[in-house]
Amino acid sequence: MWNVFYYWHINAVHKEGGLTMTTTDTGIREIDTGTPPTRFARGWHCIGLVDEYTDGKPHSLEIFGTKLVVWADTAGEVKALDAYCRHMGADLSKGQVRGDNVACPFHGWQWNGKGRCAQVPYAKRNPKLAKTRTWPTMQRNGQVFVYNDPEGNPPPEDCIIPEVAEYGDQGWTDWKWNTLVIEGSNCREIIDNVVDMAHFFYVHYALPDYFKNVFEGQTAAQYMNSHGRPDVGISAAYGDTRLESIAAYYGPSYMLNPMVQYYGEYAVETILTNCHYPIDANSFVLMFGVMAKIPEGLSPEQADKMADKITAGIEVGFLQDVEIWKHKTRIDNPLLVEEDGPVYQLRRWYEQFYVDIDDVTDEMTDRFEYEIDTSKALENWNIEIQENLSRQAEERAAQQAAEAATATENSSL
Ligand code: FES
Ligand SMILES: [Fe+2]
Repeated sequence: MWNVFYYWHINAVHKEGGLTMTTTDTGIREIDTGTPPTRFARGWHCIGLVDEYTDGKPHSLEIFGTKLVVWADTAGEVKALDAYCRHMGADLSKGQVRGDNVACPFHGWQWNGKGRCAQVPYAKRNPKLAKTRTWPTMQRNGQVFVYNDPEGNPPPEDCIIPEVAEYGDQGWTDWKWNTLVIEGSNCREIIDNVVDMAHFFYVHYALPDYFKNVFEGQTAAQYMNSHGRPDVGISAAYGDTRLESIAAYYGPSYMLNPMVQYYGEYAVETILTNCHYPIDANSFVLMFGVMAKIPEGLSPEQADKMADKITAGIEVGFLQDVEIWKHKTRIDNPLLVEEDGPVYQLRRWYEQFYVDIDDVTDEMTDRFEYEIDTSKALENWNIEIQENLSRQAEERAAQQAAEAATATENSSL
């Protein structure tokens, strides 16, 4: 089983007789950057909260390498069409919502949610049979989803996106929503995080005690228990923090992540939505929303403030990832150790959304479980932490001594 983790792809270059040869005998491992896929994932993509789209205006959405117009009809149903008007190509998202339709800013043609031309206000007849491209939409958990399928099939009846039972519950806050545009990266980077145990220590200042992945069908889950590093980040400032987290992707781009964060004995329950949609092959929109359980003794307003703070903390975490993505290269042949987890299996799972439905293989969807043994990692990381803490203590002592010396000098003046 381990050979799949050590997937060697040696593609070194050396010179022989003046010719550049591709060979394996220099022993240099080259990075295979591959090329980002030219198609976009099949599946439901969350595009934000319902409230954003039900304001009576048409919205412009750059997604799947094209532009859509998104608006809500009189029943509050969100609709999505190709943004470019089939009359003379104007951008419908710069127009207006008229009743159930979107009206073009150029000559006033109105298009309905089914993609039909509903009205040409100045013409005796309208081209009733004319049809523009539509995207299936869905509202769930207070969020809007658009379905993409390069083959043009309708979404399956059994929808993969779960209903969040706590959404709308009096005991929970509403979503606190945030959006980041990530340029220069394909969205596979964020998917890779599902198995990446070690980056939690270096990037997010957490020590993962328990880390397990389960992939099955269209879901990919990560079970993690971690605690904060005492030498850096939030635990260094506020004392011990612990996290119990179950994060699962449902389809290619929508993750739900119930979490319990312990600050000492005080537990805070939250549900995180972590979702994204591709703008094009090299940029994507990352969105995340947090709902928090209102703790006993806290008013809804106080809980709201708490959810704001948690969201801000999660944003810090995503920005730490973004900083890595901004400067890294795409890599199709990562060189891995056992503790890196099943990166190749995860990418195989992800591949199912980029091939035709008939080309989805059992390998992509069969149940796969893997628990990372974190014992060696924790042993070494704890040594590093102790060294950091000792050095920090020495630095503090040296600083106090210097301050005391300055104070003595000043008092003797
Ligand atoms: S381009 Fe849209 S109505 Fe003419
Ligand atoms: Fe991360």
